[in-house]
Amino acid sequence: MMDLEKILRELTLEEKAGLCSGRDFWHTKGVERLGIPSVMMCDGPHGLRKQRGEGDHLGINESIDATCFPTAAALSASFDRALIRTLGETLGEECQAEDVGMLLGPGLNIKRSPLCGRNFEYFSEDPYLAGQLAASYVNGLQGKGVAACVKHFAANSQETLRMSGNSKVDERTLHEIYLPAFEAAVKEGGARSVMCAYNALNDTFCAENRELLTGILREKWGFSGFVVTDWGAVKDRVNGLLAGLDLEMPGGPGTQDAQIVEAVKSGRLEESVLDEAVRNVLQFVFDYQEQRHPEAAYPRDEHHKLAVSMEQACAVLLKNEGSLPLSGGQKVAFIGEFAQVPRYQGGGSSHINTSRTVSAVAAAEGRDVSFALGYRAHDAKPDEALTAEAVQAAQKADVAVIFAGLPDAFESEGADRATLAMPENQNALIAAVAAAQPNTVVVLHGGSPMEMPWLGGVKAVLTMYLGGEGVGEAAVALLYGEANPSGKLAETYPCRLAHNPSYLNFPGEEGTVEYREGVYVGYRYYDKKQMEVAFPFGHGLSYTTFAYRDLTVSRESLTDSETLTVTCKVKNTGGCPGREVVQLYVGDVESTVGRPVRELKGFEKVLLEPGEEKTVSFTLDKRSFAYYEPKIHDWFVESGAFTIEIGASSRDIRLSGTVDVTGTVELPVAYTAYSPIGSLNKTARGRAVLAEILKSVSGQREGLFSAGSMENLGEGAEAIAQSMMREMPLSGMVTFGAITQQQLDEMLKQLQ
Ligand code: BGC
Repeated sequence: MMDLEKILRELTLEEKAGLCSGRDFWHTKGVERLGIPSVMMCDGPHGLRKQRGEGDHLGINESIDATCFPTAAALSASFDRALIRTLGETLGEECQAEDVGMLLGPGLNIKRSPLCGRNFEYFSEDPYLAGQLAASYVNGLQGKGVAACVKHFAANSQETLRMSGNSKVDERTLHEIYLPAFEAAVKEGGARSVMCAYNALNDTFCAENRELLTGILREKWGFSGFVVTDWGAVKDRVNGLLAGLDLEMPGGPGTQDAQIVEAVKSGRLEESVLDEAVRNVLQFVFDYQEQRHPEAAYPRDEHHKLAVSMEQACAVLLKNEGSLPLSGGQKVAFIGEFAQVPRYQGGGSSHINTSRTVSAVAAAEGRDVSFALGYRAHDAKPDEALTAEAVQAAQKADVAVIFAGLPDAFESEGADRATLAMPENQNALIAAVAAAQPNTVVVLHGGSPMEMPWLGGVKAVLTMYLGGEGVGEAAVALLYGEANPSGKLAETYPCRLAHNPSYLNFPGEEGTVEYREGVYVGYRYYDKKQMEVAFPFGHGLSYTTFAYRDLTVSRESLTDSETLTVTCKVKNTGGCPGREVVQLYVGDVESTVGRPVRELKGFEKVLLEPGEEKTVSFTLDKRSFAYYEPKIHDWFVESGAFTIEIGASSRDIRLSGTVDVTGTVELPVAYTAYSPIGSLNKTARGRAVLAEILKSVSGQREGLFSAGSMENLGEGAEAIAQSMMREMPLSGMVTFGAITQQQLDEMLKQLQ
């Protein structure tokens, strides 16, 4: 064990300042005379991008050969904590073998708009799902002694102005939607590092945002690791340290280190603040040194196989009218450049250099499969000759399988998409082939939702997302039923872009983006507005079928300090083994504040043999029922009934029930003469006063509400009278003569 405090005493001021920035693009600084080693970090998140030589930022230097696993957009569709944990462990093995102490990932930004160019690197539109997967990834990776660095903290959900924009997010929305994935990575995963985002959050750059980096991260969540900048995100270095930013990356010419020294000398920065940052960085350095396996190596072939099997669990069968699975006896035409050269990862800092990509055409060798190019990925205009050739191939076959999707230029780090459309040439090709071959299947490659104008004309759609180096083999196994699709969408596919809740405020104006849709992101919005969607959150088909029954709850009522166990039974009612993602959603039946209709609060993926039935169990706690209440800067449960829904998707609810939850926290209410009578119900002192009021107004209600005018309302009159009473200000009782001014003053005193 290194004695950190002793080292701190021996370091000079200049050395301490130096330790707060990198040696170069990918290393921390070492101090030889004190035995402090330099540690390497690299991207991430779905493979190792260890650049040779001095790293450059743009990925121009070649990086070593490494396994390219499915990207986060694909991984999240697995809804499988164990799979993601295995991925973390596997990446940890590769890091150990390459002497990399920290992997820059996973990316936990919420998919606010399907246009974000980097959505392929992020998990979901849902914070609970993203958080659960993040914690699993971090646990797996760190279990191998390699630090995870969750990024980009926070509200960095677009590429437009990604390095300088100002995200304006209200407190409730921030805590309910944009922070929980980070919170889970820290609290449940024990993440050792957090990367602060480039952008500003509510007018303060994340790199200088003390509320974010210290108030929330360290004080609320108990984070004990170190905060690193996104590459080049530092603004004023001293303000950064004061806010809780430890390490600046990449290392520069040392100008900022000199500023730190100067600030300590001039008294602007207390040396203890610098010491704390150095402590946080050195803790990471020595933890890695202690957990380092110098002899580590990894089985490249095994990792490739893992990349294939993981992708099989990630792909989502969006539609199937019986064309899939294919049978060995069928003549099949594979069409499209992506069948030959698959698109399997996105551009930018996450780009992995792999030598092992196998295309679907190569993976189908030995089967009765022909190939036609159909389109060229880098052209957008339809090519008549290629289309004609593809149509001919389709007609000669029993089934046409078109591999299509978004080319590299359509989505990348550094740029948002402009539309949800696929290239014109691909849409035209699919329409032409589907018109000639009624048995047409589309296999999609891409990091985010696309419009499918040809959807009605094709029999099946299987999306591989950006599936890593194993995508071709995975696609063939899934198409032929050697693997059964089990992925579910971790995001909604809207009918059109304009339906997306962020549409009017994305990507913002004049450097500022206001998250005005609030907590209504993704399905939270589409469900509340009762809108049609192309494919809902949680949707995904299988080659088998599942039946749900017997929802049980461990109690019908509980307080918010108790937990609830929910169980249900799921049975494989089809003919082949399959995995089902059982989803649990909670909704507040009636609430004072606006809340989504349903929110994901549990999910389990179960493997079932034909005829097999299993009981699935979930545990719900306060957070499952709570919303974030800015009045107390904390989570709050409003007492009342909550729905518990079990679904095969957010729009395919199979079982439902209700429970009563009593909140044990009282919100502060400042009563005045103009507070509505109904608000008395919110506090104990209010309820006592209400009881008195009801006593003194009994028999006088007609006078209060001029009941005569309500006669013609018939049966609704009582409900309206009650509503009027609830909405009437306390002072109204004086106005209408039910109580005296003196009695009101007495009440107000009691209410303070
Ligand atoms: C990206 C990060 C990445 C870093 C290092 C930045 O531009 O936003 O996600 O980890 O570069 O490559």
